[in-house]
Amino acid sequence: MRVLILGSGGREHALAWKLKQSKNCEELFVAPGNGGTSQIARNLPVKVNDFNAVKNAIVENRIDLLVVGPEDPLVNGVVDFLKSQDELTELLIIGPSGEGALLEGSKDFSKKFMEKYGIPTAKARVFTIKTLSEGVAFLESISGPYVLKADGLAAGKGVIITEDLAEAKANLTEMLKGKFGAASSSVLIEEYLSGIEVSVFVITDGRNYKILPEAKDYKRIGEGDTGPNTGGMGAISPVIFANRIFMEKVEERIIKPTIRGISEEGFEYKGFIFFGLIKVNGNPFVIEYNVRMGDPEAEVVMPRIKSDLLDILTATARGHLHKTDLQIEPYTASTVMLVSEGYPGSYEKGREMTIGEPLKNVVTFHAGTAYENSSLKTNGGRVLAITGLGKNMDEALNKSYQAIRKISWEGMTFRKDIGFDLKRLGQ
Ligand code: AMP
Ligand code: GLY
Repeated sequence: MRVLILGSGGREHALAWKLKQSKNCEELFVAPGNGGTSQIARNLPVKVNDFNAVKNAIVENRIDLLVVGPEDPLVNGVVDFLKSQDELTELLIIGPSGEGALLEGSKDFSKKFMEKYGIPTAKARVFTIKTLSEGVAFLESISGPYVLKADGLAAGKGVIITEDLAEAKANLTEMLKGKFGAASSSVLIEEYLSGIEVSVFVITDGRNYKILPEAKDYKRIGEGDTGPNTGGMGAISPVIFANRIFMEKVEERIIKPTIRGISEEGFEYKGFIFFGLIKVNGNPFVIEYNVRMGDPEAEVVMPRIKSDLLDILTATARGHLHKTDLQIEPYTASTVMLVSEGYPGSYEKGREMTIGEPLKNVVTFHAGTAYENSSLKTNGGRVLAITGLGKNMDEALNKSYQAIRKISWEGMTFRKDIGFDLKRLGQ
């Protein structure tokens, strides 16, 4: 198989690392990739939203299987575009059509889908500029915390939660007046759910599914979950409170009806579903759907997949997922994200990096890195994800943090408390 992965983050390096181990992986390409992927695959200078360039890369490199990493091209319809090309009728693709991708691309659409299929989620109402005064009146009629969500993709910044009614009203007005551009031309006001979050992943061919290892990510920049949201500062898998009883509820109440909905709606969906869940009084609720793997969750999920992922993805794209067997490693994986000083605000790129020798039971996944004349430089906000593997969470985290001591660049920043809340729960 000749495989192309679209994207350039730690998630794509983790996918590449896992797919490269397959005996059936003949040649591996990543577009555009990063410094890490360039060491195990051929990076192609193609932008993920330039669909013609993606198509040409597929034709020129005789790609058999395309794996789409990020949500943007999916929501923009890359799968529909490629499937409509005469030269690409044989191409296998991991990633849903534009319609399926609306589960992530529109929170209004996904809320209606969940309501239709009886999937537990926070109650919500949707408002536009025309109904702004009703939205304000609605905020006045409920108690806080107030949860406001831009309908469309807003690079992880489209959710505002505040206890303050005046602030909520001001935010609703600003959002509907274009704070996040078209993404916030509709805004959901959602019931606040109090609980602990966990990310659950499945791979599906639209009818069959397999559950991948779950993970917990740490979104805030600061220790103790403080400060602004980031793309993710670290992750742990497995998650202690996602025990058998909870996961059975997730499967029966959330995964099965979601797959049934996808099939009944006739969505062309062969790919990952990422369920952002919250556990409230022992019961799972959906906070959001994503139509791809998480980042940095992929950096802990991929190392825990024992089976040949390429075989599983090929079977998924062909609609034969039920014929495969997915085996999971019993150990714990932790990842700690090393970021540029200033992230998630503005930061410098091009800082020279030292990454030391590889350690046993540690995998270094690159995110924002690039090689410049064989020297490794920072090239983004999230730079490296250091994954440690161990018998339990402490052992895995010790590995991650031990490896980090050998890594440096000017302004390197990371959280020293990944897993802190799970430790409190008593792992
Ligand atoms: P989202 O972009 O939908 O994942 O939301 C970002 C974050 O906001 C989530 O990870 C939660 O921490 C929080 N959040 C979203 N919706 C709710 C809700 N209804 N109740 C409480 N917290 C929420
Ligand atoms: N880590 C959260 C995400 O990938 O959306």
